[in-house]
Amino acid sequence: MDRINVGIIGTGWCGGIRADACFANPLVADLHIAENREERLREVEAAAHPVSASTDYRVIIDNPDIDAVMISATPETLHYPMAREALSAGKHVFLEKPIAITLAEADELVTLSHEKKVKFTIGYSQRFNPKYAYIKRCLEDGTLGEPVSALVSRHITRSLGKKISGRVKLSPAAMEATHDLDFVLWCLEPAKPIRIYAQTVYKVMQEINGAPDCTWIIVTMDNGVSFTIGAGWILPLGYPNFSTTTLEMVGTKGALLIDDSHRDVVLNTVDNGIQFPMSSMPGEQVGHVFAGPMANETHHFIEAVALDKPVLVTPEQARKVMEVYIAADISAERNEPVTLPLNDADISSITG
Ligand SMILES: NC(=O)c1ccc[n+]([C@@H]2O[C@H](COP(=O)([O-])OP(=O)(O)OC[C@H]3O[C@@H](n4cnc5c(N)ncnc54)[C@H](O)[C@@H]3O)[C@@H](O)[C@H]2O)c1
Repeated sequence: MDRINVGIIGTGWCGGIRADACFANPLVADLHIAENREERLREVEAAAHPVSASTDYRVIIDNPDIDAVMISATPETLHYPMAREALSAGKHVFLEKPIAITLAEADELVTLSHEKKVKFTIGYSQRFNPKYAYIKRCLEDGTLGEPVSALVSRHITRSLGKKISGRVKLSPAAMEATHDLDFVLWCLEPAKPIRIYAQTVYKVMQEINGAPDCTWIIVTMDNGVSFTIGAGWILPLGYPNFSTTTLEMVGTKGALLIDDSHRDVVLNTVDNGIQFPMSSMPGEQVGHVFAGPMANETHHFIEAVALDKPVLVTPEQARKVMEVYIAADISAERNEPVTLPLNDADISSITG
């Protein structure tokens, strides 16, 4: 079994979690980090003990001894150029969602990863949430029968919504519903999405940066199954980076009703009032355990590279998710359903 050398580009919130997971993983030999905020670089350096820490990410790309690169930098416009450089240098790549900004960029990255024969995966962390994994298993082992419909409602706080929509012009469909689109499309494979209808609401965030507050999406599959996903980012603060989700998966033989709303742990203190610990989407370290999906997702990628195992999220799946959320954005703008695959006129309506 070969240990691997890993580089992380962008050690903010998620990159910091990934650095801690790499530090804890015995399959990682040398860890390298790059972060252009010096203060944050030093913070993560002190916690994760990398062998190198630089403000220049090309130190990682240019290091021939580094096998795998995790790209967790923002804004999201950096994902494509950084992933292209890392893949071109022959590195295995873990890239936070979204895979790219345009479908053409996503296609180029997918092709490049195949040409270079490297692992390439996208950070759809919710697949590593045990409740989500349970839904997937109940479909695979026949407990639910054939899928009929699904419903997901996801919300995060307005402080996080402001952070995300302030740095990049990507909608709640592209940045939040994307997790649930990925998950439900994965559950429903091999069925393919053929028609998308979406609506957006503008009440709160528009004044701040012009972004919608939420997007509600109905997806029709080529086998007649239909599902709805709603995602918003204007909840009042309850806990830093609070997220709340409910899911339904209804099949011909059974139904699963999942509460991932994070209302199960309530901390009430005189100093800070009511809070909801362990309620962020990536999760957080709690003593000796990680409460949330992001550490396991990181370990999965490390194992895929070190043990030459397949990645759970393929870049082709991430590209399909991207096509669906772009169609949702177009549908909301035109106020009419959009048929997949997107045609050139659809694509140029969003790129030009
Ligand atoms: N899967 C999930 O649950 C989840 C949750 C939150 C965010 N995300 C995704 O993860 C990504 C990171 O989000 P975040 O909240 O950690 O963002 P963040 O802003 O906290 O961290 C990004 C870091 O990248 C650094 N950076 C920017 N340019 C750089 C460069 N040229 N070189 C090195 N570092 C650079 C920034 O200084 C910052 O510290 C986003 O794209 C987001 O979509 C995923």
